[in-house]
Amino acid sequence: MGQLAEQVAELIVNSKRCVVFTGAGISTESGIPDFRGEDGIWTKMDPEDFTIQRFVDRPEVRKMQWKLLSEGGLVKDVQPNAAHYAVAEMEKLGKLDCVVTQNIDNLHQMAGVPDEKVFELHGNMQYARCLGCRKRYPMAEIIARLAVEELPECEACRGILKPDAVYFGEMLPQAVLSEASRRANQCDLCIVIGSTLVVYPAALIPEYAHNAGAKIVIINIGATPMDSKAAVCIEGKAGETMSSIMQHVRAGI
Ligand code: APR
Repeated sequence: MGQLAEQVAELIVNSKRCVVFTGAGISTESGIPDFRGEDGIWTKMDPEDFTIQRFVDRPEVRKMQWKLLSEGGLVKDVQPNAAHYAVAEMEKLGKLDCVVTQNIDNLHQMAGVPDEKVFELHGNMQYARCLGCRKRYPMAEIIARLAVEELPECEACRGILKPDAVYFGEMLPQAVLSEASRRANQCDLCIVIGSTLVVYPAALIPEYAHNAGAKIVIINIGATPMDSKAAVCIEGKAGETMSSIMQHVRAGI
């Protein structure tokens, strides 16, 4: 992997606008399971239960999900890992235009990437939102209510509350998607970390970059549909791979 890490480091050093695109695979070393990897969430839970339709139609599905969250859920007190810190270091070295992430765990921001440089295509779990009047609540406030309420409702209109992550069948936040797409169309390097690149429209982001002439780097355990379009593919763990790349970047800056 050493030689490939050096190649990626050279691409980073010579790039003027690098977009990093991340998926659940960048957070597994922080203890958050991914979805389609070995032991992924969809090997244990039914993705149909995470469609907006079923969340709205079935109170028992809402109860199950709020119970999961009250027991620590997907994003209990987790910490960024070496891969998140490597991306944050790229930003500190002036080598990161932005991170476009499918993740809802807030770990890029916790690692030090400024909020304005993180585009969360699938929302995040910091808030819950009312499906009726769109009022937003800090997630911690709702979790506290779960001690006495199985099905938290909006205090303003008694509407259904839902975590502010994007469920299957829901629109992505359009302003976030269009800005992320604009950045991808303008970048000269797009580094994909920890994603199967099978969920759209998120997976369009590295495709836009490639079509705009950017070099593509893929760091992932397992193949992706974009491997053939990548200048460099590294089959390896995100943490150690990104740490090795940044060692070479520091030497080359
Ligand atoms: N290092 C590198 N790759 C890893 C690591 C790791 N430590 N851990 C897991 N991976 C790889 C897995 O092998 C898999 O190929 O990361 C990839 C994660 O893919 P998915 O689980 O499909 O996650 P993602 O691509 O983010 O899914 C996209 O699907 O279910 C929806 O909304 C959900 O945002 C999610 C979207």
